[in-house]
Amino acid sequence: MRRHANANDPLWYKDAVIYELPVKSFCDGNGDGIGDFRGLIEKLDYLENLGVTCLWLLPFFPSPLKDDGYDIADYTNVHPSYGTLEDFTKFLHAAHERGLRVAVELVLNHTSDQHPWFQRARSAAPGSPERDYYVWSDTDQKYKDARVIFPDGEESNWTWDPVAGAHYWHRFFHHQPDLNYDNPAVVREMLRVLDFWLDLGVDGFRLDAVPYLVEREGTSCENLSETHAVIGTIRAHVDAAGPGRMLLADANQLPADVRAYFGEGDECHMAYHFPVMPRMFMALHLEDRDPVVEVMERTPSIPETCQWALFLRNHDELTLETVTADERDYMYLAYSADQQGRLNAGIRRRLAPLVRNNRRRIELLNAILFSLPGTPVIYYGDEIGMGDNVYLGDRNGVRTPMHWNGDRNGGFSRADPPRLYSPVIMDAVYGYQAVNVEAQESDGASLLHWMRNMIRLRGLFRVFGRGSVEFLRPANRKVLAYVRSLEDDVVLCVANLSRTAQPAELDLTSFAGATPVEMLGYTEFPPITAAPYFLTLGPYGFYWFELQR
Ligand code: GLC
Ligand code: CA
Repeated sequence: MRRHANANDPLWYKDAVIYELPVKSFCDGNGDGIGDFRGLIEKLDYLENLGVTCLWLLPFFPSPLKDDGYDIADYTNVHPSYGTLEDFTKFLHAAHERGLRVAVELVLNHTSDQHPWFQRARSAAPGSPERDYYVWSDTDQKYKDARVIFPDGEESNWTWDPVAGAHYWHRFFHHQPDLNYDNPAVVREMLRVLDFWLDLGVDGFRLDAVPYLVEREGTSCENLSETHAVIGTIRAHVDAAGPGRMLLADANQLPADVRAYFGEGDECHMAYHFPVMPRMFMALHLEDRDPVVEVMERTPSIPETCQWALFLRNHDELTLETVTADERDYMYLAYSADQQGRLNAGIRRRLAPLVRNNRRRIELLNAILFSLPGTPVIYYGDEIGMGDNVYLGDRNGVRTPMHWNGDRNGGFSRADPPRLYSPVIMDAVYGYQAVNVEAQESDGASLLHWMRNMIRLRGLFRVFGRGSVEFLRPANRKVLAYVRSLEDDVVLCVANLSRTAQPAELDLTSFAGATPVEMLGYTEFPPITAAPYFLTLGPYGFYWFELQR
């Protein structure tokens, strides 16, 4: 089969494996208790070795950090805790030298209330261009059809500002006023921000909270055509800067609505597949493939140059916004019987604790993640099965320091433990002494080794990132099976969602004569004939077969 596309391929994101990381949580290079770019540079060998090909950095800009940096006070600088712009450039070059691409956050929708634009706006004359950087109103009764996204933190999308003598609009926390995209000056500012990072050589941008840019009375104020027009402008600007730069839409919406963020190939290159994420967990708990098959078949096709970003977990709660109320109740019962684990419409837990630290379930979910159509995104620490701390408030429990070894602070920092930005995980099961990179490096049977192996294997077959998918329907619904194809390359993926061994009879008549070769061990299985193809799978077992003619 064909190997990876070359490094200059403008569609590189189709074959990528993305690694999501907060600089502050990864490695503390100067010993002040907070992760920084110096520390991150030291860990690039680890990331290169893991086999990931693109790093997505969570916000690292100057910020009061009330929403972990998504409340930006200066778009074109580095928060002093994490280093300087020079440190960032050094990091970027070091990453590029290793063939790692780098994507950063473009938080379009809102700023911090500490941003100079907001400070200027609130004291500017009503109706002036400065004032109009944000969305103001005399009443808090406008746009009533827009839901509150953080119901555990906010009651309304309007907050009264005594300085301005008006209410301002915010879809997230009240300290994050929404920018006004009806004001062309705001669009121009954002293009300047984009240019700043493009000029430094950044490869991609995650367009944070992108459905909410524009608001109109009588609508949900989400996914409006005016919002798509702004994204189109941003895309044209990125294209003008040259090929190879990627935009990734953060749009937590139903499949048909997310689809719109690709446009006709003239909006975002990538978008998260939010709807399939909870359904992978649901299928696992139900021991039934239906939720995954159903949502994938409901997913519209996307333009040739576009790609889904698939993920199991990220820095937020496991969101249940795109499932029905019944499904949400089911997910809460299945994955968070404990109230403390719930937040907004979701569950604030990491991957390993969600599946009760069951190694087979972790592997199964990752095998599905790595083989469904799209580009997988791995959340830092999940490659070693890190735990969480639901008592830290908001989503901080899944943002604790990375565990490098069994030393003080898990090797994350030399600082005195009380100085750390967050306590490390210390319990007997998930604590840094039990779960860390160094220990897993020296254990050939560790999750880390398994992940590395799977990432490499995936990297050898372009069909995973670029191929089509067709779901099979064996009578046993505990078995999820699909065929990925790209020209003559065909891979069959079979997964047992059940805790017990299962048989499956697959209809593979259209591949009669081909020989399935199991891809982890390169073992030939009996050739396919016109008869149903019979397989048995162990508990949570899965196979990837290359179908060789
Ligand atoms: C996105 C981010 C989330 C943040 C929110 C507001 O949803 O993923 O972490 O709180 O935007 O910026
Ligand atoms: Ca530091």
